[in-house]
Amino acid sequence: MSGPFVIAVDGPAASGKGTIAKGLGEAFRLPVLDTGLLYRAVGVLAERAGELDNAEACAAAAVTMTADQLDDPRLRTREAGEMASQAAVHPEVRAALLEYQRTFAAQEGGAILDGRDIGTVICPTAPAKLYVTATPEVRADRRWKQLQAQGDAVSLEEVLADIRLRDQRDGDRDAAPMRRAPDAVLLDTSEMTIEQAADAARRIVEAARARWENS
Ligand code: CDP
Repeated sequence: MSGPFVIAVDGPAASGKGTIAKGLGEAFRLPVLDTGLLYRAVGVLAERAGELDNAEACAAAAVTMTADQLDDPRLRTREAGEMASQAAVHPEVRAALLEYQRTFAAQEGGAILDGRDIGTVICPTAPAKLYVTATPEVRADRRWKQLQAQGDAVSLEEVLADIRLRDQRDGDRDAAPMRRAPDAVLLDTSEMTIEQAADAARRIVEAARARWENS
């Protein structure tokens, strides 16, 4: 048993990782950081300044950002997700957000972080790692329902196109591309309800915790 018990939850857009991370937080009584929100906040700030393409300006937004800006419901929109993915390609932005995430992960008692590069870059030695995925069609359907509930009248086809574009950009970028860490357990939630996915995740983490306690 060495270091705090960190759970890394990675995966593509609308795979269910956010809900799974929250469920794990309740089950294991650990604080959860949705790292996507950090990139969303940077993307929105940079876009407002017309500087989404400018790595230095995006990194400056990452440095000046404050915790209360993360509560803004506008960060949950489809547009903010797209801006986040554009801001996230800049290595300068990723470097500026690294310390905040590592500090969160280092807290006594442990922590859960969900994102794209937690198991590979932010917390490569995390004792529990999950890579949550689902087919693009299933993810698009889930995201479309969420957006409808938010009052966004976007079509399912558009959401699927967004998801494919984001998968490609997140997977192909040079800086910390979205990848399953070799030691992450793959959880394909395509055929699962959210309760089934949360249960499966809990069992995977229980096994990882037992191994960690005995190590
Ligand atoms: O909820 P959803 O999966 O759509 O998005 P998110 O987790 O809020 O992430 C939004 C975008 O931020 C992603 O498409 C990534 O480009 C970026 N991101 C990242 O690069 N690294 C992370 N650890 C988290 C998010």
